[in-house]
Amino acid sequence: MQIGVLKERRAGETRVAATPDTVKKLVAAGCKITVESGAGAGSQISDALFQEAGASIAPNAAAAAASDVVLKIQRPMTAAEGTDEIGYLKSGSVLMAHLSALTDKPLMQALASQGVMSFALELMPRISRAQSMDILSSQSNLAGYKAVVDAAATFGRAMPMMMTAAGTIAPARVLVFGAGVAGLQAIATAKRMGAVVYATDVRYATKEQVESLGGKFIVVDEEKMKAAQTAGGYAKEMDDDFKKKQADAVRAEVAKSDIVITTALIPGRPAPRLVAGDVVALMKAGSVIVDLAAEAGGNVEGTVKDQAVMTANGVTILGYTNMSARLGRDSSSLFARNIFNFLTLMLEKGTGNLKINWEDELVKGTLVTKDGRIVHPSLAG
Ligand code: NAI
Repeated sequence: MQIGVLKERRAGETRVAATPDTVKKLVAAGCKITVESGAGAGSQISDALFQEAGASIAPNAAAAAASDVVLKIQRPMTAAEGTDEIGYLKSGSVLMAHLSALTDKPLMQALASQGVMSFALELMPRISRAQSMDILSSQSNLAGYKAVVDAAATFGRAMPMMMTAAGTIAPARVLVFGAGVAGLQAIATAKRMGAVVYATDVRYATKEQVESLGGKFIVVDEEKMKAAQTAGGYAKEMDDDFKKKQADAVRAEVAKSDIVITTALIPGRPAPRLVAGDVVALMKAGSVIVDLAAEAGGNVEGTVKDQAVMTANGVTILGYTNMSARLGRDSSSLFARNIFNFLTLMLEKGTGNLKINWEDELVKGTLVTKDGRIVHPSLAG
């Protein structure tokens, strides 16, 4: 079976969906791998490294895409976006990538019309068996870390308390909104740097996790927070009464914070607005906000996608939308391993050919198009 790995063409993308490590493993499993020339450049992986691992190098996207299985980081482009990557995919081939399936139905229709069997990796069910295939977790983890590193680099002061002969420097005060995968990593990173860390989430279950990392948890409404988690582990959208209580509870905390990291997301919905402009206006000059929800509209009033903006009172708001791409090499490694683990489920032992168990809940949960149709239940109708 032939597997093709395409170069990512979207602006700001540095990652690649395979690494020499996963190429070696797939070759050992009996697959043939073709990597588009330059695909690893943003992650410091040369064509030569891919070749050493056993891949052949294709001169362009069309040649790499002429495969039975195509691996990508982001959804393929349309002709209108610059390169007709969808047009390169063979009818009957399999595509695996983060497809933004729930928010880009026209693209899913285009993949169905092209006869592609596509798996949206962002829809991987959140069960323990799937943890090693969960691209959202692996990428969020790195994003949470990088958010703190970027904030510290922008902040004109030190993070830890420092007692020197010339006087004592107080530790930075960091507030994290959303204690999911990215938020917990942000808390852990800020603690390691010596900051005093506060955090809040709508899911009460996160209180213990925050505290186990040394963070202080801000409770808004215990009863409502205990009911805020879906069966899938995600947050529900909260009612207006909760939103008001939350805004009141965190207002003073935001004003006292040197660094605010926001990570709050609700799947398939715009990001909740958690920090209003008048609250940002209470922060000290030199403070930094990193809004990891920028792609979904932002948690903070004043966030501008993919930009660093400074408010009138001297607060910098970083709105990078693809934070994990700012750590290309590590993000690629983890993403590629996630794909490899998922693909391994579908490979027939000994032959390296596809043998898909259509009853597997990981297959059912991620399969979006098949036999010319959109088949995912969340996109039906
Ligand atoms: P996410 O990226 O969808 O959301 C980030 C965080 O924002 C969540 O903790 C959410 O509760 C919080 N949030 C949403 N609205 C908020 C609001 N108005 N105010 C404050 N916080 C708000 O979620 P993520 O990080 O991808 O995962 C959430 C949970 O899913 C994890 O903590 C974990 O329990 C579970 N999970 C399970 C996995 C598995 O078993 N395979 C893998 C990954 C996560």
